[in-house]
Amino acid sequence: MPNPLANKRIILGVTGSIAAYKAAEIASHLTQTGAFVDVILTESATKFITPLTFQSVTGRKAYVEADLWGGEGHVTHVGLGRAAELLVIAPASANTISRLAHGFGDNLLTLTALASHCPLLLAPAMDAGMFEHPATQASVKLLKDRGAVFIGPAEGHLASGLVGPGRMVSPAEVIAAARWALSRKGPLAGKKVVVTAGGTQEPIDPVRLVTNRSSGKQGYAVAWAAQDAGADVTLITTVNLPAPCFAKIIAVQTADQMHREVKKATADADLLVMAAAVADFRPARAATDKIKKEKGLPEIEMEPTIDILQSIGEEREKHGWPKRVVGFAAESRDLLDNAAAKLQRKRLDMIVANDISRPDAGFEVDTNRVTFLFPDGTAIPLPKISKEEVAEAVIDRTLVWFKNS
Ligand code: CTP
Repeated sequence: MPNPLANKRIILGVTGSIAAYKAAEIASHLTQTGAFVDVILTESATKFITPLTFQSVTGRKAYVEADLWGGEGHVTHVGLGRAAELLVIAPASANTISRLAHGFGDNLLTLTALASHCPLLLAPAMDAGMFEHPATQASVKLLKDRGAVFIGPAEGHLASGLVGPGRMVSPAEVIAAARWALSRKGPLAGKKVVVTAGGTQEPIDPVRLVTNRSSGKQGYAVAWAAQDAGADVTLITTVNLPAPCFAKIIAVQTADQMHREVKKATADADLLVMAAAVADFRPARAATDKIKKEKGLPEIEMEPTIDILQSIGEEREKHGWPKRVVGFAAESRDLLDNAAAKLQRKRLDMIVANDISRPDAGFEVDTNRVTFLFPDGTAIPLPKISKEEVAEAVIDRTLVWFKNS
């Protein structure tokens, strides 16, 4: 699946807030991802930032109030509104939120919103008291009831000096929300996909851990790719990386915690992709106090952890959920034989065999060399590609399973 932002016509409405300067970064990033971004500034937005800034980053005209009555006459808003595939308003002021809620069409932006038929995404920015005011809250509710999506506001220091909810979320979060909004009709729409990421951490004592070199990047990339395809994503992770917007994030540390969460989350899931590197052994007892070196070399007794995939395979045989399961196998030798054995043993629908013997594949690097293996013996080798491309290829392969369901 290509990035859902690519080749999309997006209107970015910018309203009067000091956060307007951040909108330039949003316009720039959306453009770099391949979107066609038409910016509309309200009169008060132009007090904070100029149309030239937006024109410079989008390479397209940025619209201001005068354009409503300018060359294209009063059809500018209709043309813009009808062509738009997504309307993002960031920052969205209290004034604009309330005008939109009540269907006002008193400036180019609100008129365009009235003329559009696309999803509406709002990133509020205002003082905390203003956001919490019953009038604003009522408008937010009205818009939400009509299907508008709000991202933020975040808590933090506000221009007024107050601290509270009112800050616009970061440009990266607005962009992630736009990516989410444009992916909702993808081939995995309505499907629940559970992804695990990172290496588990098994405590030795309150400061020391047994862990592994997994960065979590591959798992996060799978989560993004699944959401890009329209899925509702649950990400069970030991690390904290930029995650897809509106994905359900469950932070875990140990194999046991991961197992508990995977079991719960997959009880009604369509797909499980187990990209996490789960510890196979853990200290049998974690010391309650820090082990002191004066006491000499400690002897740490290890015990096996549960094999999460194997246990989920047994659940699946009993209840039929999750419907499909994909595993990863990181191997330093006999890649295909070892991975094929795991595919059978763990009763998977597909395994991604990852050759970690080379410096450009596996842990801590941005590329991977993988082969997809299937229960019927089919093997599909992929060239050296980025972890994002591996993730897209994994999700693309799963689409056939859900085509008619
Ligand atoms: N896995 C799991 N639970 C474990 C260990 C691994 O669910 N306790 C999953 C991994 O997330 C991965 C797949 O099983 O999707 C293969 O993991 P890998 O570590 O390659 O295989 P192991 O079964 O642990 O075998 P070995 O470490 O001996 O190669």
